[in-house]
Amino acid sequence: MKSDQRPRVPPDPPTGGFTARRHETVRIHCRLACEDVARPAVLPFKVAEAADRSRELVERIGELSEAPEAVESRRGRWPLRPQDTVRRIGRLATGVLQRRPARGARDRWGDGMTHLPAPHPGLADGPVYLDYNATTPVDPRVAAAMLPHLTRFFGNPSSGHPYGARPRTALAQARAQVAALIGARPEGIVFTASGSEADLLALRGAVLACGNRRPHLVTQATEHPAVLASCRALERLHGARVTVLPVDGEGLVDPGALSDALGPDTVLVSVMAANNETGALQPIPELAARTHAHGALFHCDAAQAAGRIPLDVIGLGVDLLTVVGHKMYAPKGIAALWVRDGVRLEPVVYGGGQERGLRSGTENTALAVALGAAAQLAADELSDGAPSRIRALRDELHAHLADALPGRVHLNGPDLRRLPNTLNVGIDGTRGHEVLRAAPGIAAATGSACHSGTHTPSPVLTAMGQDPDRALGALRLTLGRWSTAQDVATAARVLVRAVPAVAGSRR
Ligand SMILES: Cc1ncc(COP(=O)(O)O)c(C=O)c1O
Repeated sequence: MKSDQRPRVPPDPPTGGFTARRHETVRIHCRLACEDVARPAVLPFKVAEAADRSRELVERIGELSEAPEAVESRRGRWPLRPQDTVRRIGRLATGVLQRRPARGARDRWGDGMTHLPAPHPGLADGPVYLDYNATTPVDPRVAAAMLPHLTRFFGNPSSGHPYGARPRTALAQARAQVAALIGARPEGIVFTASGSEADLLALRGAVLACGNRRPHLVTQATEHPAVLASCRALERLHGARVTVLPVDGEGLVDPGALSDALGPDTVLVSVMAANNETGALQPIPELAARTHAHGALFHCDAAQAAGRIPLDVIGLGVDLLTVVGHKMYAPKGIAALWVRDGVRLEPVVYGGGQERGLRSGTENTALAVALGAAAQLAADELSDGAPSRIRALRDELHAHLADALPGRVHLNGPDLRRLPNTLNVGIDGTRGHEVLRAAPGIAAATGSACHSGTHTPSPVLTAMGQDPDRALGALRLTLGRWSTAQDVATAARVLVRAVPAVAGSRR
């Protein structure tokens, strides 16, 4: 072999993870499966075009390559692992390549890639953010995806002229991305302006479309107010009858109790996938199966679950499912209801017939694009092991607190059947809001409400049978995409320091 034909010996991967400059062409080294012979090949692409060309790129690599081996930029060459197949290269192509690693970011996987996103500008100077169940910061990649639809592509997606074309395609792509996150077909996705609106469309839509004079709804005690208040409104305004199922000490519904509650007039059962305060995961497939056996529809509010755990509407067996943008790194004001083919609903907004006639009004393309981009990032992250990373951090935080305050830290909600990011604990002798007041270094929640200086305990925890005193002790600590081991160490230190001061003042 002539020396100039010899493969270049690449430099050692620089520390800090894989990066490339925006105007650089990077190369994916792989083996092409061609007539049963695996030939080495190099597939180049421009980072600047990666976002637009990602689909094409992924398809091309998918068609051709058997085993991607390495990815190379001007800074060096990084090995890919055997499991780094098409999906992962797509992930690289759609954003990771454009990021610089955080200064000092560690290569947790030992593969030279930066799995953590760059620090979020919104979190840079504030307290440690542990309130991801309240809302999530908008991912800069999501903001970048939606921006052209605020600046350049202003057309109405329904317009027949060229200005409508790009918004129309973007809307279709966003629908497909959201659908892919939950294992659904794009036609089933109805964009709404909030999770509350998606829940209303499901509940009111099913009740008004059923034609019963006295429709019966079943829900459960720890649902979000978006569901519980909609049920009350349907009782008040539309003659519906509502059964609210109790939960056990961990916040879980007994499927047997659901079967007992179902009757001939039952139109719809609505049970959330994951609770916003405790992270409790309800047994949705079993509840949905029992509901269908009675011929009723099943709605699942997956606001907290979507993007945090894998969800599949077919596996769950649901008819309607709510997904919320601001819980998964998209902006507030965008959500979606998935509606199974064949389910009849009364529209929530009447007018020009957009969103299959269920939610009229000119579509907000930019926000739909944001939800689509967020869904794609979430899907990639789920397949890249994010839930295990978050769970490990959460459990580290729990262990720190339990070690420092032996016998005084009690978990609220299930230990195992729980969202990987959620830790709801009570600390003996303290009240949650007092601990948080004494711990300004963290931003977290309690679940209790404060009216004119009086704190009322969380309805979720009281529904789980906790007495008001214990429920007022709750701290909800929820982690997310930008949570780090450093955050966990800081939060544990700050909380443990806050407890004696608070407990002392309560004696
Ligand atoms: C479980 C659940 N459902 C519904 C909602 C309502 O979503 P939105 O704030 O978009 O109306 C939330 C938000 O906190 C939630 O946690």
